[in-house]
Amino acid sequence: MKHAIYVTRHLPETALYKLQTVCDVEIWDRDIPPPYDLLVEKVRDKQGLFCLLTDRIDAALMDAAPRLKVISQCAVGYDNIAVTAATERGIPVGNTPGVLTDATADFAFTLLMSAARRIGEAIDYVRQGNWTTWGLTLLLGQSVYGATLGIIGMGRIGQAVAQRASGFNMKVLYYDTSRQHEAEARLGVEFCSLEELLQASDYVSLHVNLTEETRGLMDAQAFALMKPTAILINTARGPIVDADALHVALKEGQIAYAALDVTDPEPLPADHNLLELPNLIVAPHIASATVPSRNLMSMRAAENLLAGLRGERLPYCANPEVYG
Ligand code: DGY
Repeated sequence: MKHAIYVTRHLPETALYKLQTVCDVEIWDRDIPPPYDLLVEKVRDKQGLFCLLTDRIDAALMDAAPRLKVISQCAVGYDNIAVTAATERGIPVGNTPGVLTDATADFAFTLLMSAARRIGEAIDYVRQGNWTTWGLTLLLGQSVYGATLGIIGMGRIGQAVAQRASGFNMKVLYYDTSRQHEAEARLGVEFCSLEELLQASDYVSLHVNLTEETRGLMDAQAFALMKPTAILINTARGPIVDADALHVALKEGQIAYAALDVTDPEPLPADHNLLELPNLIVAPHIASATVPSRNLMSMRAAENLLAGLRGERLPYCANPEVYG
């Protein structure tokens, strides 16, 4: 008999086909996430759950699904999942590290460059018919080449951003909870305290997971340490930045600009006070959104799911402790 699984959004064809050959697949086929209560109903009789970062997967949902053998998240981050609760219930949780590293690092650098050279404002300026002549002081931006980049979180994506920065002859400082000696030797990045990084960097790019320790890491105190010319880039998770503190910092010129792919809340409502500010770029959480990256993420999540259904160790597991 085929395993019954629930998939919380449309999938690329190849991943869907892979699942359909061995599973009875039920898919939520709308473009917004399934409401929580409906999701709980849907997983009640399922053995596998293929989910996205927009789905809340908590202990109550797991308890409603006594046959659930595996939760497979199609993302590298999994702060939407109560992982400890899953471990306590013997349910492995899969994620998709590695296959979105370059796409995400490319996008972090895209945001960095776009903020440095005020691309959002420049596009609006032309479209709104304001381009009347060449001007010596028109839309002045900041240098990227030779500037100092502070990377918070020197994991896979942080390292990939540092690699891109070397092409721009940037000095790269980093802060992490542990020293990354191999990355220091390979990329020439320098470890320093969080305070030193915030004080010295022209650009600060966030690459940490969202945890209770990193929630609100970029708060009023952090912004007060930064240069008034500094630019903040966030492609990690929205709640790492205190949105109210960011609003004050941008409005009062404590920092010059912010470029965000992730926000708190997410999606950011069109009438949010951050969007009134000219010195801000916001993208709708698309850093990993390239065709190859999303195909590979879906395939990796499908492989995790199928391994879990077969009772095998997940190739990419967020809670390896579940195996004892
Ligand atoms: C992730 O994978 O965690 C990203 O935020 C989306 O690709």
